[in-house]
Amino acid sequence: MSQRKIGDVILDVKDISLRFGGVKALSGISFDVREHEVRAIIGPNGAGKSSMLNCINGVYQPQEGSIRFRGQTFSHMNSRQVAEMGVARTFQNLALFKGMSVIDNIMSGRNLRMKTNLLQQAFRNPWFGKAEREETEHREFVEKIVDFLEIQAWRKTPVGRLPYGLQKRVDLGRALAMEPTVLLLDEPMAGMNVEEKQDMSRFVLDVNDEFGTTIVLIEHDMGVVMDISDRVVVLDYGKKIGDGTPAEVRANPDVIAAYLGTSH
Ligand SMILES: Nc1ncnc2c1ncn2[C@@H]1O[C@H](COP(=O)(O)OP(=O)(O)OP(=O)(O)O)[C@@H](O)[C@H]1O
Ligand SMILES: [Mg+2]
Repeated sequence: MSQRKIGDVILDVKDISLRFGGVKALSGISFDVREHEVRAIIGPNGAGKSSMLNCINGVYQPQEGSIRFRGQTFSHMNSRQVAEMGVARTFQNLALFKGMSVIDNIMSGRNLRMKTNLLQQAFRNPWFGKAEREETEHREFVEKIVDFLEIQAWRKTPVGRLPYGLQKRVDLGRALAMEPTVLLLDEPMAGMNVEEKQDMSRFVLDVNDEFGTTIVLIEHDMGVVMDISDRVVVLDYGKKIGDGTPAEVRANPDVIAAYLGTSH
């Protein structure tokens, strides 16, 4: 059954400002994300898109503003806390373990969910049986993700040997292993050919549809953005210049001007 019914605001970003020395990466950015929606963030290079995701998941601490997530307000988020609250992300530059297999990379996304630690396993105390059982359950979950992403053929392949498009898919798998409520995707289709982009678009929509996962997506390809997002935020030089449905932002004169002034 489709989980696509868009709900209440789950993530509310208010007046976020972020500076690096003299560089204003973000200036008073506010926008919200509703449960189950696909929310895109677009804008020219250096607009502040990745910085925005980094504020949401606690990698950067903004000097001003607040983020309200599932009813709790934070002046800044702490990375681990954010992950525990159900926010997962993929990175613009892949953060996979290249020498490790597809399965092990995806498994690494389940670390947060593993209750029994290695020390307990090592001592083989009465917990051991439990740890083993838990490990089996995690492995089964990872296999489900592998099936879902249609990467069975490469289960044992070191990630570094896969073509780039498949590596991006494994990175998505690692994030899905966290069973996130909100998934932050930083250019999941960058560097892909048309066919790989279509595949990735379909997986993003399937995740959204089948698991009801809320998606916040940075993407440069306007065709993809128009196809898969419900609402779009547009950033330019750290400022928000547009916010609305794909059709609304496409007709917004400020957005058109920002894009005409760049190579996109
Ligand atoms: N850690 C950092 N230290 C200093 N400046 C930074 C840092 N991270 C980002 N910036 C600056 O903040 C601005 C916004 O960068 P950001 O990476 O968020 O842009 P972006 O919209 O993701 O661009 P792209 O489309 O190229 O990925 C840029 O001027 C960038 O140089
Ligand atoms: Mg970026």
